[in-house]
Formats: sequence, structure tokens, C-alpha cells
Amino acid sequence: AQSVTQPDVRVTVSEEATLQLRCKYSSSVPPSLFWYVQYPQQGLQLLLKYYSGDPVVQGVNGFEAEFNKSDSSFHLRKASVHWSDSAVYFCALSAQCLGL
Ligand SMILES: *[C@@H]1O[C@H](CO)[C@@H](O)[C@H](O)[C@H]1NC(C)=O
Repeated sequence: AQSVTQPDVRVTVSEEATLQLRCKYSSSVPPSLFWYVQYPQQGLQLLLKYYSGDPVVQGVNGFEAEFNKSDSSFHLRKASVHWSDSAVYFCALSAQCLGL
């Protein structure tokens, strides 16, 4: 069984401050991790993904996330947020099926 938990239900950040949204995961196998964003009146868009390698992943629009295996976390960060970053953010996980 696998799951993700986002402890920050609602986050308020001042303009140009740094946003952090936490994601903790539980997985019995090496996970692939994703952050998606849903802007008002729009569908889901992929911000970034982690499969393996460098634990710091750069995404679109200045977003980045860091995979921390010992902490089972994949927190999203963005420096200097703008009001237009107001959205719903989703952390997601899938099991890796390398070679398939
Ligand atoms: C990963 O998480 C652990 C436990 O919270 C923390 O001590 C460590 O500094 C983190 N590693 C990085 C690279 O942030």
C-alpha cells in the first residue's frame, strides 16, 4: 500500500515570500513522486516529478521539490510567490516499475 499526506491544508503566504508545501509519503517500494497544480477553472498541470538521481528537482515557474528518503518527504518550495500562484496543489505517488 502507498499513500501521500499533505499536512498543510491551507497556506497563506505574503507576496514575494517563500512558499513551502509539505508532502510525506509511505511506500514499500521506491516511489516516483509528483507535484501537480490546479489553477482556478483549469485542469491539473504537472509541476515536477522525481524518479531517481538528484534529490532536488526543478519544475516550471520556479518551483522545486526535494526528495528526502530518510524523512519520507517530498516538500514543494517556491521562492518569491505571486498572487497568481494561488491554486490547489497535489502531491502524488506511484510505484516505480523500472524496465516495464
Ligand atoms: C531529511 O530529513 C531529515 C529528517 O527530518 C533531516 O534531518 C535532513 O536534514 C533532511 N535532509 C535534507 C537534505 O534536507
